[in-house]
Amino acid sequence: MINKIGIVGGGNIGGVCVSEIVNRGLAREVALVDVKDPEFAAGKCLDIAEATPVYGRDIRVIGSKSYDILEGCDFVINTAGVPRAMRPDGTFPSREELLAINLKITDFVAAGIKKYAPNAFVISIANPLDAIVYRLFKKGGFKPNKIMGMAGVLDSARYKYFVSQEAGISVENIEAVVLGGHGDTMVPVRSATRIYGMPVEEFVTKAKLAKIEKRTRGAGGEVVKLLGSGSAFVSPAVSALEMIEAIAFDKKKIVPVAAYLQGEYGVKNLFVGVPVVLGKNGIEKIIKVKLNADEKKALKVSINAVKKTCAEVDKTK
Ligand code: LAC
Repeated sequence: MINKIGIVGGGNIGGVCVSEIVNRGLAREVALVDVKDPEFAAGKCLDIAEATPVYGRDIRVIGSKSYDILEGCDFVINTAGVPRAMRPDGTFPSREELLAINLKITDFVAAGIKKYAPNAFVISIANPLDAIVYRLFKKGGFKPNKIMGMAGVLDSARYKYFVSQEAGISVENIEAVVLGGHGDTMVPVRSATRIYGMPVEEFVTKAKLAKIEKRTRGAGGEVVKLLGSGSAFVSPAVSALEMIEAIAFDKKKIVPVAAYLQGEYGVKNLFVGVPVVLGKNGIEKIIKVKLNADEKKALKVSINAVKKTCAEVDKTK
C-alpha cells in the first residue's frame, strides 16, 4: 500500500487517475492539484470522496489549487496541459504543436513538485510527452531513475489490442513493444511481438500487421477524431497506474517508458521510449531490444523527432 499519490491536472486523465486509485485501494491518500477556478480540484475530489463508501475504500481524497497538498507524496503523476482536440475545420494539432503552451504550464508543475515532493517518483503524461518530461527533469532536478514519461505502456496496449482483435486471441496472450517517441514516428516492434510465445506472423498476415502498426502510430489521433472534444483519457490513466504498481510492489516488471538515456540506444541526455525494469528504485535497468535493420532505421527517425522537439525546449528558458 502506498502512502500518498499526487496528481497534477484535474482534467479527464487526472480524474480517472484519482477515481481508479480509489477503486483499486492503491494508496492511503490521493491529492489532486488544479489551478482552475473556483475550486475545481476540491470539487472533483469531493465528488470522488463521497463515492468512497460505495467503493468501500477508506481513502483520503483531497483537491486544491495549491501545490502544498503534494507534501509527502511518494508518487506524482503530471497530467497538466492542454490536450489535443478537434478544430472547427475538422483537423487537429500534432502533439508537438502543443509544446509552446504546455511548456509554460510544465514550469509551474516542476516548481511545485520540486518544492513539495522533491523525492517522489514522477510520472509525466502531458504532451508532447518526451519533451515535457525532459523539461520537468531539467527544471525539477529529479533523479533520472525517479522520473519517466508514460507512453510506451499505452502505445503497446493499443498495439496489443489491435493484434488481439485481428488474431481473435485474448489480449492476455499478446506481448508487444512500442519504442521511440510518443508521436507519429513511434516504432511498434514486430520482431518482438508474440502471441503465446509464438511469432505474431503465425497468426496475422504481414499485410495486416503493417496496417495495425500504422493504426498504432496514429491511435491517439484516431480517438481525438472520434471524441471531437479532447483526447484519450482512460487508457493513459490506467497505463500510468501500471507503472506505479510495478514500482510500489517492487515487481521488477519490464515495461516501456520514456526514460532518460545516457548512451543507451545511441541516445544521450534525452527521454525516449525504451523497455526498462521497474522496481522499488524506479527505473532499475534499461533493456536493450534486438531490432532488425528496418526497426533500427525507424527508431532513428523517431529519436530524431524527439531530438528536434527537445531542441525547441532548450531554446526557451
Ligand atoms: C494519446 C495521448 C494521451 O496518445 O498522448 O492518446
